[in-house]
This record gives sequence, structure tokens and C-alpha cells, in this order.
Amino acid sequence: MDKFIVDGGVRLTGTVDISGAKNASLALMPACLLAPGTFTFRNTPNNRDLWTMSRLLGSMGVEMHLDGDVLTLDGSHLTSHEAPYDYVKQMRASIYVLGPLVARYGEARVSLPGGCNFGPRPVDLHLKGLEKLGASIEVEGGYIIAKADRLKGNHFHFDISSVGASVNIIMAAVLAKGHTTLTNVALEPEVTSVIDMLVSMGAKISGVGTTTLEIEGVDELRNTDVSTIPDRIEAATFLIAAAMTKGDVNVRKVAPQHLTAVTQALEDAGCTLDIGTDNIRISMDRNPDPVDITATIYPGYPTDSQAQWAAFMLTSTGAARIKDTIYPTRFGYVPELQRLGADIETGEGYCVVKGGAKLTGATVMSSDLRASASLVMAAMIAEGQTEILRVYHLDRGYEALEHKLGALGAVIRREKTEEF
Ligand code: EPZ
Repeated sequence: MDKFIVDGGVRLTGTVDISGAKNASLALMPACLLAPGTFTFRNTPNNRDLWTMSRLLGSMGVEMHLDGDVLTLDGSHLTSHEAPYDYVKQMRASIYVLGPLVARYGEARVSLPGGCNFGPRPVDLHLKGLEKLGASIEVEGGYIIAKADRLKGNHFHFDISSVGASVNIIMAAVLAKGHTTLTNVALEPEVTSVIDMLVSMGAKISGVGTTTLEIEGVDELRNTDVSTIPDRIEAATFLIAAAMTKGDVNVRKVAPQHLTAVTQALEDAGCTLDIGTDNIRISMDRNPDPVDITATIYPGYPTDSQAQWAAFMLTSTGAARIKDTIYPTRFGYVPELQRLGADIETGEGYCVVKGGAKLTGATVMSSDLRASASLVMAAMIAEGQTEILRVYHLDRGYEALEHKLGALGAVIRREKTEEF
């Protein structure tokens, strides 16, 4: 298992290019199960989750080729309609094959995803949605077994705004017989990018950009060629890291309109932002004012960037409250930041970060993808050296993070460890 060694006291300056969005790519790729022929996915990020999804699809008979950031997938000759536990336990997004398999082949056997480091991650909405479209769902031996001669259009309301359930049910409904109305659909850009792709495949969907979708099922769809939207969470991570180090960084290949809640919070904290059409330049010359954030559904502040905000507030001139309404227990990074000397109190679904505590390097452990990003960021402003263990969490969602940070002036290197 790898670890990062990070020296503190750096200031990030220069330019960084953001990769394609992990959470869009993982949702787009299974659409290759919905139609024959070769699908082309451009601006595909090269990270661990992408490879897990590729291996899962490969295990089902999908042919895959990656040339730089251009991924091609061809699901014309599937050999299996099953997503084994081995893949699903590594990555919850494996469940995205469920909707397309039932819609096109009338059957799927998908392992139930486990929980993760920040609490239970139920899939009840995925299953209820498929049942509403006429699928029979059984759960046995830790597997979801879904069957349907042909899905039938219906009305389904998502009790909770869910990115994953929205993606799965939309990908099922486009091939259902008849009309489907979906209400309370998630508005995250990653969901919208799936809808845009399905429309390019011949799906009939109206209401894009709203929480109500009207879908006219079709008998077949066609392959397509799409470009993955920029990763708004990676962009947020670099913007906040630059601000924490009182740096001056131009973050390129972004969609600024996808992270307005983050840029607003950064401006409220006193950062100077110059926002272009596909770049954001940020500079900061002082400790930030404390700014409270509440992680909520899009377009609110993203839960995937709340740990990063906590790290930023370690340098603030006061106390900032960070609340997560999506994952109330997503604060596994707090004890690790406290090992560096952070002064943070936690409560039910929130923490309060008190700025100004002296941070000193220590050995800390990643707990989930975004939490580990906050540890790297805090290590960059701590005195001395910090070891961050289990960086495989980071590798799941960041492409070559140590190289991108190093190019901006961070002193960070990767080392192999004996730790099992
Ligand atoms: C997606 O997870 C992202 N993952 C997560 O990013 C992100 O944190 C999350 O959306 C919220 O924005 C991918 O896109 C691969 P949800 P997802 O369904 O789809 C509850 C990262 O770091 N819920 O929107 O699993 C659920 O418990 C990852 O890249 C149900 O109750 O999240 C949560 O409280 C971490 N039943 C809320 O909905 C369901 O059937 C939102 O979850 C589904 C979800």
C-alpha cells in the first residue's frame, strides 16, 4: 500500500489542468450496455475507480480500449449480466450496470454494495424505481436479482434526491415501453451529463435541468461519442488548496458554473477569484475569514468538498461550522486532522473548526477519498513532515495528485509501504 510524504510550509503557484469528472465517467460508461457498437468517451480521467469500472464491464464481455483520455467501450457481445461482489465491494458505482442490464436484457445479478467509511449507503431507491417500472426484484445471498420481460413506463418519485438512483432509473426508463415521469430527480451535473448522452443515443427525454423528467421509452438506442464534463470536486480541491497556502493558481479545464457554491464560499472567506469561461484563477494573501458551509444537494455546497473546506478553515481567523446534510457522519477526517494539532469539535452531523491552532506534521491515515485530500492539504501548511497512509483512497478519484500538486510547488512524494 502506498503512502504520501508531504513537507509543510509551501505556497502553491502556477497552472493546473483539471481531469474529467470521476462521478460523471462512472455513470456514462455503463450506458454502453444500452446499445450495440463502439462508444467513445473523451476527457476520461485515469484513476482507480475508472479501472474498477472498466474491469467490471470487461468481466461482462465489454471490449475496452484506452488511448490517453479517450476510452472506447463496445458491449455488443456480452458474456455475463452479473456484477460480482469483488468489483462492487471496491466501488459502489458498480450498481450503475443494474438499470441498463434490466432495460436491455431483462435480467441482472448485481452484488449489494457494502457501506463505506462514512456510513451506510442504501440502494432502496434504485430497487424501488426498477420495481415501479415493472421489474421483479429479489435479494438473496447478498445479490440483487432483477428480472423483467420488458420494463413498462410509470411515474416514480425519488423520496430522497439521489445521484446514483437517478442515473440508474433514467438509464432503465429510456428503453421501457411507454411513458415515464420521474420526479425529484437529482440535479448534479453528473446526472445531467448522463441525460445529455442518452439523448445523443436517441433517447426521448424532456425536462433536462429540472427535477421532473418526462421520458418516452424507445425500442432501441444507438452508440455515441461524448466528452466527460470537468471534475468539479477536483477543481474545488485545487482552489481550496491554493487558498490555504496563500498561493496564486490558475485552475484550467473547469466548468465554473458547476461549482458556484464553492467559489462563493471562497470569495466570502476573502479570496480573490478571476472566473473565466473554462478557468478560475485564485489568489489569497492572508488567513481567511471563517465561513460556515452546509453540504447539501446541487447546486448547494458539495458534500465531496466539505472535508477540504474544513482543512481550509484551520487557517481561518475564527471558528467555522461545517454541516453535512447528505452524510451526517462524513467526518472521519477530523481525528486525523486533530493528530496534526487541529482544534475541531464534532457534533451530530457537523463539526466546528477553530482556526489558528499550530499544525505539526505527524503520521495520519486516509479514511475516504475526499477525507484523504483534506489530510494532504493540511500537511502542506503544517510544520515539518507528514506521512499519509493508505493513499489508495486518493487514487480512486484523483489522477496523479502528487504530480499535479508538485508542479504547483508542493513537496510531496509517494512511497511504497509494507503496511497491509
Ligand atoms: C454520489 O454517490 C457520488 N458518487 C458521491 O461521491 C457523492 O458524495 C454523492 O453522490 C452525493 O453527492 C458517485 O457519483 C459515484 P446519493 P451516491 O445516492 O449516488 C441516500 C465521491 O467521493 N440514498 O446521491 O451513492 C444516501 O444514503 C463519492 O466521489 C438512499 O437513502 O449518493 C445519501 O444520504 C462519495 N437510498 C443520499 O441519499 C438510495 O437508494 C444521497 O446519496 C440511494 C441514496
